[in-house]
Amino acid sequence: MLLYSVLLLCVVLIPTLGIKRVNSVEKYFNVCRRDNPKIEDCVRNSIETLRPRLVGGINEIGIPPLEPLQIPEIKLEEDTGAIALYSSYTNISIHGLSKCEIREIKIDLENNYMQLKVHFPSLELNANYKISGKIMMMPLQGEGLCNGNFTDVDVTSFIKTGTDMRNGKEHLTVEDIGVNFEIGSTSVNLDNLFNGDQDLGSAVNKFLNENWQSIMTEIKPTLEDKMAHIIKLIAAKLFETFSYAELLPP
Ligand SMILES: *[C@@H]1O[C@H](CO)[C@@H](O)[C@H](O)[C@H]1NC(C)=O
Ligand SMILES: *[C@@H]1O[C@H](CO)[C@@H](O)[C@H](O)[C@H]1NC(C)=O
Repeated sequence: MLLYSVLLLCVVLIPTLGIKRVNSVEKYFNVCRRDNPKIEDCVRNSIETLRPRLVGGINEIGIPPLEPLQIPEIKLEEDTGAIALYSSYTNISIHGLSKCEIREIKIDLENNYMQLKVHFPSLELNANYKISGKIMMMPLQGEGLCNGNFTDVDVTSFIKTGTDMRNGKEHLTVEDIGVNFEIGSTSVNLDNLFNGDQDLGSAVNKFLNENWQSIMTEIKPTLEDKMAHIIKLIAAKLFETFSYAELLPP
């Protein structure tokens, strides 16, 4: 779930990659010109300038508040053999996304490709959860509050763009998007497992915390897909709001 938040952060940042300086766009971003030989540095500066505004979000261009990031609902269904799990999370809030460090930006306009690596020192997630199934033979069932802390989260995302014409103007489109993340350490707690059975509940929480790496390996592809989807929605909204020439003036 944390991954989602991370992704969201990235999502928020990625659209800013398309930043430029034209009329209304300038209201939001420091614009970078396409022919800027140091476009990566320029974009990095734009993001840093934008950072304080990301905390509260920029509603009119589809960038959600980042601190905390709130996600109404995420459902995860896994059936990989080792894990057969149905879980849903509602009222999700993630703290720490705005404290990200940009580790690398790659922009290859000729090939319509951008890549962003971001590091989050620490993320905290809170949500209502509902879970049932099995993880590595361990039965899991419950409904309540969950809390998790994730440190040293590294997220790499790329976006490949295309263009189409809208109202006579060229707009970017999202052709492909991908997300990969790594987590340094994890600590989670699910409240009220097994209808509040204390012994079972703490045994399962202990199990989850001792085995989070193998569990994460199993659910990672699904989480990365969900994160990519969220980023895609945000990027698409940004590309719809501003034309290519507004975002990246020639
Ligand atoms: C959602 O979370 C917020 C803050 O974490 C809390 O104040 C609110 O009561 C929660 N809403 C529901 C429906 O659980
Ligand atoms: C996560 O961090 C918060 C704040 O430091 C702490 O209150 C909470 O107990 C931690 N949760 C877990 C599951 O470690």
